[in-house]
Amino acid sequence: MTIDFNSNADIIGRADINDIDAILAMPGTDPAEIEHVVKDNADAIFTWDYSLARPALRKLYEKAKTGQWNGTTDLPWHTDVDVERTVALDQAVLGTGFDQSVYVGTAVEKWGEKEWLEFGIESRNWTLSQFLHGEQGALLCTAKITETVPWYDAKLYASTQVVDEARHVEVFARYLEEKLGGGYHINAHLRALLDDIINDSRWDMTYLGMQVMVEGLALAAFGFLHQTTGEPLLKQLLRYVMSDEARHVAFGVLSLKEVYEGMTDAELKDRQEFAFEAAVRMRDRFMSQEVWERMGVDVKQIAPMVLADPTRGLFQSMLFSKIVPNCKKLGLLERNDQWLRRRFEDMGVIQFEDWADTGEEYAAFALDAETPTPVAGE
Ligand SMILES: [Fe+2]
Ligand SMILES: [Fe+2]
Repeated sequence: MTIDFNSNADIIGRADINDIDAILAMPGTDPAEIEHVVKDNADAIFTWDYSLARPALRKLYEKAKTGQWNGTTDLPWHTDVDVERTVALDQAVLGTGFDQSVYVGTAVEKWGEKEWLEFGIESRNWTLSQFLHGEQGALLCTAKITETVPWYDAKLYASTQVVDEARHVEVFARYLEEKLGGGYHINAHLRALLDDIINDSRWDMTYLGMQVMVEGLALAAFGFLHQTTGEPLLKQLLRYVMSDEARHVAFGVLSLKEVYEGMTDAELKDRQEFAFEAAVRMRDRFMSQEVWERMGVDVKQIAPMVLADPTRGLFQSMLFSKIVPNCKKLGLLERNDQWLRRRFEDMGVIQFEDWADTGEEYAAFALDAETPTPVAGE
């Protein structure tokens, strides 16, 4: 049987994943927008089978009940955050995250400490803002999963994740408001991705889009910031959020493994394409075009250089260090003549395929775990 694959143009709207014009053609979101409506196209499913059919999910549910924390009382909100100082200190340890020699002929070529610091502060604000909007996406997705998943054990678990995500929205929103003085509107690529996930009528797609792709990336990004920032409130906030997120990704991996094992090649093809599309959209958002614009830089001029910047590339590929092994565990890489493996090769992220998958390692992220927070690849 031959599988008729869609082309890149059909899936992501462009033949070349690095087509800068196409990436930047997505119109920005309106900062004045207060509400955004998405049709969720799904049936709410009752089940009358209350038996313990999936012990692994029930175990996660028990972990979730004892892993709850309180965003109001468990974090040191009294911490005085001097954002200029904390970003300067973080940059002193890590650098700017960019190789300045790449940006010849642009305004960035002449940037000194002052401009990089300003860029670092805007980037911190932008990054945490996108985390916040992503957390709200997770809140809506897990409310949807509670309704749409046909399995009793999964409904119980998903309900705990709704509370977890509410807490994450709460703490990121509070940090941005109280410590950074407000944030950025949602990035257009992130919003398009969240829209696609919520819009899909198939219940397993909510899991794949949110639990595996968005949360997999979030876990890697939170881990990176947690390890590198010296700001104590943010560090603890991320540590607490990560203890929940690792469970969430495990929920996705455990559930989907069962579903995908029974799927035909054609059905799996849809999932592979969906995962690829999500991966590209997430990568595109890390172009952080709104930050460049605020800094007065011509995004169109600088975008190809950002894509070619080796320091940047290293950071971006690290963001896929959880997604790729989780996709491998789900069998998404190999099916249909290794279609998704080849796409991840094109994106330069396949090297993570044998890193720990989150179906196994979530216990190490628990707040009472004796081992230190694992870093990607350990
Ligand atoms: Fe979350
Ligand atoms: Fe989550």
